[in-house]
Order: sequence, then structure tokens, then C-alpha cells
Amino acid sequence: MKILICGKGGSGKSTVSSLLAKSMASRGLNVLVVDTDESNYGLHRQLGMELPNDFMNFFGGKKEMFGKRRAASGKEEVKKKGREPVNLFDKRWGFDDLPEEYLTTKNGIKLLAIGKIHDFGEGCACPMGALAKNLLNNLDVTDEEVVIIDTDAGVEHFGRGVERGCDAILGVVDPSYESLKLAGKIDGMTKDLGKKIYFVLNKVDDDNRAMMLESLDHLNVVGAIPANRGISGAGLAGEELNLNLPEIEKLTSTILGYD
Ligand SMILES: Nc1ncnc2c1ncn2[C@@H]1O[C@H](COP(=O)(O)OP(=O)(O)OP(=O)(O)O)[C@@H](O)[C@H]1O
Ligand SMILES: [Mg+2]
Repeated sequence: MKILICGKGGSGKSTVSSLLAKSMASRGLNVLVVDTDESNYGLHRQLGMELPNDFMNFFGGKKEMFGKRRAASGKEEVKKKGREPVNLFDKRWGFDDLPEEYLTTKNGIKLLAIGKIHDFGEGCACPMGALAKNLLNNLDVTDEEVVIIDTDAGVEHFGRGVERGCDAILGVVDPSYESLKLAGKIDGMTKDLGKKIYFVLNKVDDDNRAMMLESLDHLNVVGAIPANRGISGAGLAGEELNLNLPEIEKLTSTILGYD
């Protein structure tokens, strides 16, 4: 299963990605976490892992990838497909094909980072988005493997169609008007894709939970993670998340279809 985690900036996408990854790995699954956020540096710390080399460098880096796309855009078949990027994979991949030098591994979790913006003026993140989409479209997973994709904030990746290669989409919703509105938008954008769509509330307390549920009553809300001092403390210190939350266990079971 390939699960894409999305939502508003700061809603808790990376937190939920990390906690889900740990929960799934503790159940004996081989987990690949794909960091598709070109800007942020929190995810690997929440996992307690080193940030791997940019996977984009496996394909020659940003310039090389731009070159390939530019060359391809002159071809008739690519013109017909509009802005569809060139396929960088010459065959379908499994976990074993992922190059070791672009992974860090710990306790049953592999982490792969598509690429970060490193330098002033280096250009946009389009090649990263194209590579993320390519990878998800070309990666096969077995029943013992799970891919968790942590995305950048907002809906740019939906515009790009990154979700096409996923099986399930999990929207993280924090207690803000923006986040509630975005959840509705994500639901509308994805409901015809034929994927499982879930939403989880995050940072909830007794005051905001009912209002959030009421506002999202037409969506598939499958859980609510409380505001938790352990999470915010680790977030401030840039430390690994070592928490066993019943709400995350329940979410894991729901997504894996155990309940
Ligand atoms: N349930 C929670 N309780 C308390 N703090 C939380 C909770 N979930 C997330 N946080 C904190 O909120 C902040 C944002 O979380 P996180 O980085 O996971 O969000 P994000 O959606 O990935 O953000 P970005 O859009 O910047 O990638 C972090 O400081 C994190 O520690
Ligand atoms: Mg994040």
C-alpha cells in the first residue's frame, strides 16, 4: 500500500507520517517513508534518522532532469500528453531496486528524500515534483511493504497529479478554518480518483473536537489525535518521536484494514 499524507502547512503531516511509519514497522511491515517536501527538515529528525542524499542526484541532479524534460518536450508524444513529465524509470521498481546510497534505514523503516532546495536562486521545485510522481507511478509494493509519502503543504502536488500512483490519501486537519476548508477541497479534488480517502484531526482538545467533526461531517474522518506535549516538545527540540499513542494505533489498523 502507498499512502500519501497531505494537509495545511503545520497541520502535522510529518508528525503523523513519522508516527504511522513507526507503528507500521512495529507490526512487522517493511516501511518506506518518502520525503517529498523540498523545504522542510523535520521529518528525518522525528524519525530519529539521518537525512539521506537527495534522490534526485541518482538521476543526475536538477539540471540533468530539467534537460531530460526539455528534450522530451520536443517529442510529439509528449506534446500530445501536454505537461506530463518524461518517465525517468526504464522498468518497474520494487523496494530492492531502491539504491542503498540514497536511503537511510532504521528499525524496519527506510527513508528516501526526493530532494531539498539548497541554494539561493537554484530554481523551482518542479523536477522534485516530477520525480516524486514518477517514483510513485513506477514503484510496486508487496503485502508486507508500505510506502508513506510525506508531502509539502497545500495542494500543489494535487495539481501535479502526484496522488495518481498512491492507493490511499490521508488528510491531516488541525483546528483552524484554513485547514477545515482545505480538507473539503482535498476531498473534492480526490473523490473521483478511485483511492481511499481518510482524514484525521490533529492537535484536538475537548473544546475544538466537536466543532471540527461537525464542520467535516461529510468527510471520512477516521480519528483524532490530541494536542500532546510530548509531540510539541520533541518538535521544538528537533528530537525523535518516541510515543505510543492509542489514536495512532487505531489509525494504523483502520488504514491497514484491520478494523
Ligand atoms: N498532536 C500534536 N500535539 C502537539 N503538537 C503537535 C501535534 N502534531 C504536530 N505538532 C507540532 O506542530 C508542528 C508542526 O508539525 P509538523 O511539522 O508535523 O507539521 P507539517 O504539516 O509537516 O508542517 P509543514 O507543512 O511545515 O511540513 C511541530 O512543531 C509539531 O511538533
Ligand atoms: Mg512537514
